Amino acid sequence: MSEGESQQAERDASLPDADSATAPDLTELAKRRGFFLQTAGAYGGVSGFYTFGPQGAGLKDNIEDTWRERFTVREGNMEIDAPTVMPEPVFEASGHLDGFDDMLVECPECGASHRADHVVEDNTDIEEAEGLGAERVEEVIAEYELVCPACGTGLAGQAIEGFNLMFRTNIGPGSSSPGYLRPETAQGIFVEFPQLAEYARNQLPFGVTQIGRAYRNEISPRKSLLRVREFTQAELELFVDPEDDAGPDLESVADVTAPFYPIDAQEDEDGEPREMTIGEAVAEDVVADPWIAYYLGVATEWYDSIGVDLSRFRYRQHLSGERAHYAADCWDAEAEVDGDWIELAGFAYRADYDLSKHDAHSDDDFTIFKQYDEPVTVERPAVDPDMSVLGPEFGGSAGDVASALEDLAATDPDAFRTDDDTVTVTVDGDAFEVPLDAANFSVEEVTESGEHVTPHVVEPSLGIDRALYTVLDHSYREDEVDGEDRTYLELPAAVAPTTVGVFPLMDRDGLGERAREVAADLRAAGLSVAYDDSGAIGRRYRRQDEVGTPFCVTVDYATLGEAEEGDSEGQNGGTEDGDAPDPDTVTLRERDSTAQTRVAIADLPRVLSGLRDGDLTFDEI
Ligand code: ATP
Ligand code: GLY
Repeated sequence: MSEGESQQAERDASLPDADSATAPDLTELAKRRGFFLQTAGAYGGVSGFYTFGPQGAGLKDNIEDTWRERFTVREGNMEIDAPTVMPEPVFEASGHLDGFDDMLVECPECGASHRADHVVEDNTDIEEAEGLGAERVEEVIAEYELVCPACGTGLAGQAIEGFNLMFRTNIGPGSSSPGYLRPETAQGIFVEFPQLAEYARNQLPFGVTQIGRAYRNEISPRKSLLRVREFTQAELELFVDPEDDAGPDLESVADVTAPFYPIDAQEDEDGEPREMTIGEAVAEDVVADPWIAYYLGVATEWYDSIGVDLSRFRYRQHLSGERAHYAADCWDAEAEVDGDWIELAGFAYRADYDLSKHDAHSDDDFTIFKQYDEPVTVERPAVDPDMSVLGPEFGGSAGDVASALEDLAATDPDAFRTDDDTVTVTVDGDAFEVPLDAANFSVEEVTESGEHVTPHVVEPSLGIDRALYTVLDHSYREDEVDGEDRTYLELPAAVAPTTVGVFPLMDRDGLGERAREVAADLRAAGLSVAYDDSGAIGRRYRRQDEVGTPFCVTVDYATLGEAEEGDSEGQNGGTEDGDAPDPDTVTLRERDSTAQTRVAIADLPRVLSGLRDGDLTFDEI
C-alpha cells in the first residue's frame, strides 16, 4: 500500500463513529460555527490535530480560566509553566519510555493501524479491553472473528505489538540528545520538585498545577477532539505526607453528589453506578483516599459550572489491569457522549512512584526534610568490620561480607546481641560465619532533628479538549421561537466565548454609531462582545444563540430618545406596558428564555459582568 493510501486508510479509520447520532453533527456544527476544525484541511487534513476557531479558542480559554480559578487560586496551589519537550532521561525515569505503550494491530490487507483494545471494545460487549493484556486481546480478536474497521479484512492471527505513544525528536543537531514531546504535563512538575518544595518552604501538603499541551501519537485518533494527538491537560500534583496528613476540608464537599461505579459493581453482572455524596463515598470506604474524594467533589462542581450535564456523568474506578504504570488507585470522571462513556479526567493516587524514580535516576534529592517538633535521640547500630581478620578468612568475598554485616546491623541489630562467638551473614546464597569480635558492633546514640520523607502524589488530571467537546454536546438545544425552529447552545455565561451581542436595530439614523459606542464601552469593561449590524434582528439573535452567547443588547430609537409609544415587543423602543422607555436604555435579551428587559446603558457593564460571574440573575435585573 502506498503512503497516500495508508494515510487515507488512517483517516477513514479515524472518521467519527457512523452509528453515533450527534457526533458527526457536532463536528460539522463546530466547524461551521467556528469552534474547531481539522488542521491543514487544504493539505487533506492531518489525523488527530484540530485548530480551535474564534469561538472554540474563546470557550477553551474560559474553561481553562475557570479551572485555574477553582483548582489553583481557590485551593492556594502554585501554578507553573514547563516546556513541552523534555530530554530522554526524564522519561526513562518516569517509566514512559518503557511502559507508555498502546496495543497496535495492523490490517494484513490495507495496512491500517488500529488500537486492538478499541477494536475489541467496539465490536464485543467487553467494556475495558486494555486490562486484558495483549495475549488475551489477540485471542478475543480470533474468537469473535473481528475485522479491520477500515476494509473489513479479518484480523485473527495478526500479532499485537506494543506501540510507544511518545513523539520523539532530537534536541539540537545530530541524534545524540533525544528528546520527547511530553505525554503528560505532570513530568514537568515532578522534575522540578526539589525547587518547588523550596518554594513551598518544605511544608506538606502543597499542590502544583499546570495547564498545557500534551502529545500522544495515538494509533487511531477518533471522534474529533475526543482522541487527538495534541491536546491540553489541566493537571494538579498534590504532594502529601503519607504518614502525617491532616487531610482535606472534606466538609466543604461532603454534600456534593455523583454516581460512583467502583470495581466491585463493575465486576458484578448486575452492578450499577450508585448515586452518593462525597461524604458517603468516604464513610463507606468506596473512595479510599480522602484527597481523591475531595477533588472528586471539587471537580463535580467545576464540571457542573462549565456546562457538563451531571445526569450524564459518573466516576468509575479503574480495574486493576487498567491502571497506568504509576497508579496505585485511580478514578475516572466519565461523561456520556453519543451513547458512549468517555473519560474526561483521571484522579490517580500515584504514591511515591514518580519522586522515588526521579530520586534514583537523577543527582537531586526528591525528598522533604521533615522537622520533628522536638529533637529525638535514637540508637544507631553500626559495625566496623576488621578487614585484617575478614581478608584472610574470606578472601575475595571479604568486601561483600563486610557490606552484609553493615546491612544486618541496620536491619537486625539483635543478631549481634548474642552469646555466640560468631554472627552469620549471607552473600549470594552462601552463609559466612564471622567472628563477632571482628564485626566490631556498637550502638551509637544520635540526636536527630527530623527525617527525610518521600511525599506521595495525588493527581487530578483533566483533559480540556474532551471537556470542551462534552460541554458542546451537552449544551446543544433545539426549540421553537415565534413559530421558527431554533438551535442554540445553553453554555453557562462564565464560559461562553462571547458574553454579549450588541446590535443596532438598523444601521441608520445614528443607531449604528450609538451601538458601536455601547460595544466599545462594554469591551473596555472587560466583556467579550460581538457587534453585528447585518440582516434582520431575528437572524442576528439566532447567530448568537447558535454559538451560545447568553445575552444580546439592541440599541433602538428609544435609546436615542426618539420613541413615542413603544410596541409591546420591547424591541422597537417599546416596553411591555406600552409606555415609551427611557432614553439611554437598551433592550437586554436572555438567550435561553428569549425574555427581554430594558437596562440603562450606564448600568450595562455592571449588569453584564454580574450575569457572567453569577452574581446576578436575569430575573433580578
Ligand atoms: P484513554 O484511556 O481515553 O486513552 P488515558 O487514560 O490514557 O485516556 P490519561 O493518561 O489519564 O488518559 O490522561 C489524562 C486526561 O488527558 C484524560 O482523562 C483525557 O481527558 C486527556 N487525554 C488523554 N489522552 C487524550 C487524547 N488522545 N486526546 C484528548 N484528550 C486526551
Ligand atoms: N498525568 C496523567 C496522565 O496524563 O496520564
